[in-house]
Amino acid sequence: MNERPISPVRRPEEIPLDAALRPRTLDELEGQERIKKNLRILIEAARGRGEPLDHILFYGPPGLGKTTLAHICANEMGVGIKITSGPAIERAGDLAAILTNLRRGDILFIDEVHRLGRAVEEILYPAMEDYALDIVIGKGPSARSIRLSLPRFTVIGATTRLALLTAPLRARFGSVYRLDFYEPEAIEAIVRRAAKLLKVELTDEGAALIARRARGTPRVALRLLKRVRDYAQVQGEDPITASTAEAALKLLEVDELGLDDIDRRLLETIIKKFDGGPVGLDTLAAALSEEADTLMDVVEPYLLQLGFLERTARGRVATRHAYEHLGIEYPKVPEQLGLLEYSEQPEQPEQPPLY
Ligand SMILES: Nc1ncnc2c1ncn2[C@@H]1O[C@H](COP(=O)(O)OP(=O)(O)OP(=O)(O)O)[C@@H](O)[C@H]1O
Ligand SMILES: [Mg+2]
Repeated sequence: MNERPISPVRRPEEIPLDAALRPRTLDELEGQERIKKNLRILIEAARGRGEPLDHILFYGPPGLGKTTLAHICANEMGVGIKITSGPAIERAGDLAAILTNLRRGDILFIDEVHRLGRAVEEILYPAMEDYALDIVIGKGPSARSIRLSLPRFTVIGATTRLALLTAPLRARFGSVYRLDFYEPEAIEAIVRRAAKLLKVELTDEGAALIARRARGTPRVALRLLKRVRDYAQVQGEDPITASTAEAALKLLEVDELGLDDIDRRLLETIIKKFDGGPVGLDTLAAALSEEADTLMDVVEPYLLQLGFLERTARGRVATRHAYEHLGIEYPKVPEQLGLLEYSEQPEQPEQPPLY
């Protein structure tokens, strides 16, 4: 699944490139204007008071810049950053070791923060709230608990699934920001900036074409740029024009909206096997031989954003736009396909949030 050229999930071989292209300041970061505005205020205020930043949570689909924003916060504050993730902190003791090594003002970045274990979370609550670490010394009746005080530090959490975060943990973040897919102009600017850093000659039309197919996701845009660069190099084309980019992306089976084979298969399966839906996520995942979690985190967000897919309480439904994009005739009387029965259902329970 992660082999898809348009997968927003990072691949290990991309780590060095990520570091080279990652914007280091809020000014260098394209798009996400609302978040930037808020962060500027938070950072300036904290610096003015000489205090550490309040705890911050970023959530949203993969590849939109959560990790980047955490690094930028550290950079703008002029503090150190320690990076870890929910699954990496296995035992309460692991977290205690990390916390006791922080200096005042440092940022502790916890990726996939929804995957922290219970026992670890319990240590984190007083640490975030009171900058205190409760440790138990000894065993049995003679055991006693002592409280160590910690320097004031900042937790920046990131998650693709806000809904899986426990309420007490969420409540400890002073600011919570949702990252949205980027506007095409912002992605275009990101592509142009990366091309410059990579010393790739790219026409404006070429940049625009890559940007349109990048699913509003910087990580996808950067990956497509690299694949197009490889293609152009082998073909001996310089600079990269829109038609070169188009030919390269065609080879990768990425269509003009950035959809690839798995996106199309998902929509086609709903339409052809399940009469357009609704079909439950698990049934759909089984029909596609994919993991339900992967579909939900990686495939669906962009299809929902395009308005090709709807999530209803009874399952996923392909919309008219999806039929049109795939060139399949939209059934004239949807009632006859069971949707009438659907619309007459008694009130549906509230849907869980998307992330
Ligand atoms: N606004 C931006 N401008 C320029 N480049 C960006 C921007 N946002 C992200 N990038 C680039 O996109 C890539 C992915 O960003 P990042 O790793 O921060 O995403 P993420 O949200 O943490 O993803 P994940 O959920 O997979 O951890 C990085 O290489 C980063 O340099
Ligand atoms: Mg990240």
